[in-house]
Amino acid sequence: MGTSSSSMLSLLSIILLLSLSWAASDSVHGAFLQCLSTHSQSSHPISAALYTPDNSSYSSVLESYIRNLRFNTSTTPKPRLIITATHESHIQAAIICSKKHGLQMKIRSGGHDFEGVSYVSDVPFFILDMFNLRSISVDIEDESAWVQAGATLGEMYYRIAEKSKTHGFPAGVCPTVGAGGHFSGGGYGNMMRKYGLSVDNIVDAELVDVNGRLLNRKSMGEDLFWAIIAGGGASYGVIVSYKIKLVQVPATVTVFRVARTLEQNATNIVYQWQQVADKVDGDLFIRLTMDVVNSSRSGEKTVRATFLSLFLGSSERLLSIMNTRLPELGLQSSDCTEMSWVESVLFWTEFATGTPVEALLDRNPQVLTHLKRKSDYLKEPIPKAGLEGIWKKMIELQTPYLVFNPYGGKMAEISPSATPFPHRAGNLCKIMYATNWDEEGSEAAERYINLTQKLYSYMTPFVSKSPREAFLNYRDLDLGVNHNGKNSYLEGRIYGIKYFKENFNRLVRIKTKVDPGNFFRNEQSIPTLPY
Ligand SMILES: Cc1cc2nc3c(=O)[nH]c(=O)nc-3n(C[C@H](O)[C@H](O)[C@H](O)COP(=O)(O)OP(=O)(O)OC[C@H]3O[C@@H](n4cnc5c(N)ncnc54)[C@H](O)[C@@H]3O)c2cc1C
Ligand SMILES: *[C@@H]1O[C@H](CO)[C@@H](O)[C@H](O)[C@H]1NC(C)=O
Ligand SMILES: *[C@@H]1O[C@H](CO)[C@@H](O)[C@H](O)[C@H]1NC(C)=O
Ligand SMILES: *[C@@H]1O[C@H](CO)[C@@H](O)[C@H](O)[C@H]1NC(C)=O
Ligand SMILES: *[C@@H]1O[C@H](CO)[C@@H](O)[C@H](O)[C@H]1NC(C)=O
Ligand SMILES: *[C@@H]1O[C@H](CO)[C@@H](O)[C@H](O)[C@H]1NC(C)=O
Repeated sequence: MGTSSSSMLSLLSIILLLSLSWAASDSVHGAFLQCLSTHSQSSHPISAALYTPDNSSYSSVLESYIRNLRFNTSTTPKPRLIITATHESHIQAAIICSKKHGLQMKIRSGGHDFEGVSYVSDVPFFILDMFNLRSISVDIEDESAWVQAGATLGEMYYRIAEKSKTHGFPAGVCPTVGAGGHFSGGGYGNMMRKYGLSVDNIVDAELVDVNGRLLNRKSMGEDLFWAIIAGGGASYGVIVSYKIKLVQVPATVTVFRVARTLEQNATNIVYQWQQVADKVDGDLFIRLTMDVVNSSRSGEKTVRATFLSLFLGSSERLLSIMNTRLPELGLQSSDCTEMSWVESVLFWTEFATGTPVEALLDRNPQVLTHLKRKSDYLKEPIPKAGLEGIWKKMIELQTPYLVFNPYGGKMAEISPSATPFPHRAGNLCKIMYATNWDEEGSEAAERYINLTQKLYSYMTPFVSKSPREAFLNYRDLDLGVNHNGKNSYLEGRIYGIKYFKENFNRLVRIKTKVDPGNFFRNEQSIPTLPY
C-alpha cells in the first residue's frame, strides 16, 4: 500500500514536472492546441488532424510533401505543429488561433514551392497542410470542375479524361504539383499558347479570409478574386477550392521529342526556333531545353537542344506546319506520335510509353532531388553570336540547364492587367534556369546555387530589364526577401515589381484592405501600405 501510493506520488510529480517544463518552454504551444480544440466543431473534431513533433507520424507527414530535398535536412527549421485539415472548420480554427497566439502559419498544398516557402520559416511556425482536401468534381455538361487546393494536377487531368476525351485544362506539366499553389501563382503548361494560363480559365474560388469567413467569388468581391488568381493566394487567405472552366482538346493530339547537339546544327535550329516559336499556330507548342552532354568526340562536352512538342491536331498537319516554319529541325513523320490528350500528359512527364493513365494518380514524384530554379523573360531573339557565347558559358559551368517556353498566341491577347500575372504581349518566351543535384550538405547547395546565379548573371544582356521580370510560380528568394517589419513595403516592392510589374500597386491596395494586420505573410508575400 505504502509503496504503491509513493510510486503514485512520484508518477504524479513527474507528470507535473513534465507539464510545467513544457508549459514554461513552450506556453504558446499548449494554449494554441487548447484554442484549436475550443474552436473545433464536435462533428469534425480537429484533434485527429494534429501532428506535434512527439507524434510518431510527425516526420513522415512533414516529409510527405517536401518536394525539394534542399529543405529535407536536420538543420531545416521544423514546424511546431502540422494541421492536416479535413474540413473547412479546421482552416477557420487555424487562422483564428494563429492570430490569437501569434504563431506564424504556413499553408501547404502540393509542397512544390521551389524555396520551401510553404513549409519552412525562420520564425516559430506551424503548417496548415491541405493534402486531405483534394476532391475534384467534373461537370462535363457545364464544361467546368471544382478542384480542391490539395488535389494534384495529375488527379485533375485524370478525372477530366475519365469523363471526356475531348476536354482538358491548361496547367502545369508535372502531375504531382498541387492545385493550391499552382493556380494561385499563375500556372502555365503546354496549352498556354492556345488557352492562356490556368488562371485565365478559373471562374470561381472558395477562400477562408483573415476573419475566418468562408467566401466565394461573389462574397469576396472582384478585387480579392482578382488578387488570389495569380497574385499568390497565401498573401490573402487560404484557398479551399477553385472552379475551373474546361477547354476543348481534339480526340487525337500529336507529340514529338527531338534532340540536336551543336554538331547537328543546334545553334542554327535554336536561332530559327526563336523566329517562329511565339508566332506559329496557337495549336502548336514547342518547348526548347538546352543542357550540357558528352560530345561524340571523346572527352569533349557539347550542348544539346531538345524540342518537345504538343500539337492539338494530327501529325499530318503538324508536319506541314513544321516543314514550312521550322524546316531546319528536319522533323520526320517517324518522330511524331498521335495519342489522346491525357496520354500526352504522360509523354511530357517522361513516363515510359505504355504507362497506364493511372500513373497520374500517384502522389509521389518520379524523382526527388535538391534543386534551385530561376526565371527570366526573353523579348527579342538572341543573335547567333550570343548563343555561341551562352554555349561556351554553359559548358564551362556544366549547370544549370535552360528551358525556353514560348509565349505568343493567346498569351499575347490577354491584357497584362486582366490578372496579376503581367507577362503577356511582347514576350518571346520564359526562361527557366534549372539545377538539380544529389549531394547532401550546405556546401554542395551553395556551390550549385552559385553556378545557377552565374549563368543568370551572364544572361543579363539578352533578357528583360527594368524590371528584370520573373515568374511567381518559379519562386526565387534571390529576388528579395521580406522581413515583414517596418520596411515591409519597400522590401516587397523589390520582388513585387519583378513578379507583377504595374499590378503590384493594385495587389498592395487590396492587401491593405482585406488583411491590414498582415496576418497572411511569408518571405515574398504582398505587403500592406506603410501608412
Ligand atoms: C517538379 C515541378 C514542376 C513544376 N512545373 C510547373 C509547370 O509546369 N508550370 C508552372 O506554372 N509551375 C510549375 N512548377 C511550379 C509550381 O507551379 C509552384 O511551385 C506552385 O506554387 C506549386 O504549388 P503547390 O501547391 O504544389 O506548392 P506549395 O509549396 O504547397 O505552395 C506554394 C505556395 O502557394 C501557397 N499556397 C499553397 N496552397 C495554398 C492555399 N490553399 N491557399 C493559399 N496559399 C497556398 C504556399 O503557402 C506557397 O507560398 C513546378 C514545380 C515543380 C517542383
Ligand atoms: C498522432 O496524431 C494522430 C492525429 O492526431 C493521432 O491519430 C495519433 O494517435 C497520434 N499518434 C501518436 C503516437 O501520438
Ligand atoms: C528526408 O530526410 C529524412 C530524415 O533524414 C530521411 O529519412 C528521408 O529519406 C529523406 N527523404 C528523401 C526523399 O530523401
Ligand atoms: C547543318 O546546316 C547546314 C546548312 O544549313 C547543312 O548544309 C548541313 O547539312 C547541316 N548539318 C547537319 C548535321 O544537319
Ligand atoms: C561523359 O564522359 C565522362 C568522361 O569524359 C564519363 O565519365 C561519363 O560517364 C560520360 N557520361 C555519359 C552520360 O555518358
Ligand atoms: C559561392 O559564391 C560566393 C560569392 O561569390 C563565394 O564567397 C562562395 O565561396 C561560393 N561558395 C561555393 C561553395 O562555391
